[in-house]
Amino acid sequence: MVSAWEFNESDGIHPTATHQYSPNKEVPISVIEALGVEFKSIPLAEDGSHADAAEQWVKQNRAGYEKKTKEVTSRAALGEKFESKLKNGYGEHFHSADEIRFNTAGAGYFDVRDASDKWIRVTWGPGELISVPEGLWHRFTVDTGEFAEEFRWWPTEKAWKRFDRTDPSAESAPSRQEYLQKYSKAG
Ligand SMILES: [Fe+2]
Repeated sequence: MVSAWEFNESDGIHPTATHQYSPNKEVPISVIEALGVEFKSIPLAEDGSHADAAEQWVKQNRAGYEKKTKEVTSRAALGEKFESKLKNGYGEHFHSADEIRFNTAGAGYFDVRDASDKWIRVTWGPGELISVPEGLWHRFTVDTGEFAEEFRWWPTEKAWKRFDRTDPSAESAPSRQEYLQKYSKAG
């Protein structure tokens, strides 16, 4: 079950900290869904059938996302590249396509910008599939366990491009403009 809260910038320096206010300012999942983020809970099964179920969801809900990769984020798997991968994922950005990930182990956080440009932190654990829509500012980090294993799906018909918040021209990119048109009443 995913949960979400307003991101507290002053709570801890490292991205992997929870960054909650005290008391926590919980955000209903419906608010995140109104931003275009989609969730699907697929409990992990011993026989591995969750992988097929996740694949099925993507087939039914995301035409043209036929390329699948398995990703592991951990110090053991990435060695020296762990810190740079973390830093890269935590840089604010959006993509020219939806970012679809199904968690098979470990945990992390997706931070998404709400309609007033505030960060909302969303949990992401085993059995949770998330789709972050094209054009929505976001970032990702593993939690303090520093481990996540997942399947990702990539568009086969659209170009996969990343736009960073530090790039002043990103706001005028078609992906961002289309997002704003579609979801400008969100939040
Ligand atoms: Fe991303």
